[in-house]
Amino acid sequence: MPKERIAVFDTTLRDGEQSPGCSMNLLEKLRMARQLELLGVDVIEAGFPIASDGDFAAVSAVAAECRTVTVAALCRTSEADVLRAAAALKQAARPRIHTFVATSDLHLEYKLKKTRSEVIEMTRQAVTLARECAEEVEFSAEDATRSDVDYLCEVFAAAIDAGATIINVPDTVGYTMPLEFSRLVQRVREQVVGDRNVTISVHCHDDLGLAVANTLAAIAAGARQVECTINGIGERAGNASLEEITMALKVRADQLPFETAIQTEQLYPTSQLLSSIIACPVQPNKAIVGRNAFAHEAGIHQHGVISNPLCYEIMTPESVGVPANNLVLGKHSGRHALALRYEDLGYAMQPEEVDIVYARFTTLADRKKRIYDQDLIALLQSSTVANESLAAETAEAAAVWARTA
Ligand code: KIV
Ligand code: ZN
Repeated sequence: MPKERIAVFDTTLRDGEQSPGCSMNLLEKLRMARQLELLGVDVIEAGFPIASDGDFAAVSAVAAECRTVTVAALCRTSEADVLRAAAALKQAARPRIHTFVATSDLHLEYKLKKTRSEVIEMTRQAVTLARECAEEVEFSAEDATRSDVDYLCEVFAAAIDAGATIINVPDTVGYTMPLEFSRLVQRVREQVVGDRNVTISVHCHDDLGLAVANTLAAIAAGARQVECTINGIGERAGNASLEEITMALKVRADQLPFETAIQTEQLYPTSQLLSSIIACPVQPNKAIVGRNAFAHEAGIHQHGVISNPLCYEIMTPESVGVPANNLVLGKHSGRHALALRYEDLGYAMQPEEVDIVYARFTTLADRKKRIYDQDLIALLQSSTVANESLAAETAEAAAVWARTA
C-alpha cells in the first residue's frame, strides 16, 4: 500500500536563524537554501521580510534561486507585513505567505492587547489579503497549545474560510506533551478540517526536550506537514530537528507508515554545512548527525556490532550520509596510516599512545569492514580512559572473535 506523504517545512533560515548566535548573511542563507533544496525539503521558510532589509533581500534571493521548492515568507497580520512578504516572494516559482497571530488569552491580554473577536477579524483580513497576493496561504495560531481549544478552532475556521489551505498548530513555548498534543491535533482535524482539502501542520519547540516526540504524535493524529530545522536550531532550546523526525519516520515505518521526500544521505552534509556557516558545532551525542551517533565504545558493543551491525545499529551511517572511512589494515601493518588519520582528526599522539590505540584498532579492523572516524575517536577515548584494562580487554575481544570466526 502506498505510504501517505508528510510535507517537510524547513524553518532553519527563519526560526532557526532567529536564535542567538545563529544569524546568517544573505550569501550564507543562499548556500543553505541550495543545500535544503538538494536535501528534498518541500518548503523553505526563508525569513520574515518586514523584520529587516536583510531579511527581505534574503527571502527575495532564495525565492529567485530555489525553483523546485515552495518558498515561504513569514508575516504578522497587518497589511504592511503581508504586503512586504508578498513583495519578497515576487520571483518565487511557488510562493507561500505564512501569516500568524497569537491565540492564547495570555498573549491576547499582555502582548496584543486585543479581544478574541478582534483577533478573529485580524486573521480574516490578513488571510484574505494574503490570498490576493499568493495562491498558497498558511495560517499559524501562535501559542496554540496554551489557547482555549474552542476558540483556537474558531480562529482556524475563520482562516480556512478566508482562504488558508494550511493551518499550523505551533507549540510556541515547548509546553505540550505527546498524548495531549495528539488529542489537540485530532480535535482540530475533526472540529475544523473535516473533509476539506486543508493540511494540518505542526511546529514544535524543544523547551522540555519533546519537540520531536510531539511532532511524531501529531503525525499519528493527522498532521501532514512538519515544521523543523537542521540540527534543531531555533529560539531558546530550539525547534524539532529535521534529521530526527525524518529518520524516525524512515526507521520506524512499521509504527508510522509515512514517507517524506528527504534524501536522507544528504542529512549529514546539510548538518555539517549549517554547523560551519553558523560556527556552532553539533553536540557530539546529537541523534543522527552527532560525532558519536555511530561510534561504538570498545567492549561489549563492539563485539555485537562486529558480529552483526544490527545488534546495536538501527540505521547505517551511510543512510544519513556519514562518510565511510575505509581504513582496512592488517594486524601487523598500518601504524603510520592510523597515526596520520588521527592527526587529520586533530589528535596528535605520542608513539606509545599510538601503540595502545593500534592494539585495539587491529582487533577491530580485522573484523569490521569499515572503520569510521567516530570509531577511531571512540577507540582513542576508551583507550586513554581505561589504559590499564586495555590489554586484557583486547585479548578477551580477540578470543571471542576467534571463537565466532
Ligand atoms: O513558534 C511559533 O509560534 C512560531 C510561529 C511564527 C509559527 O514560530
Ligand atoms: Zn517557532
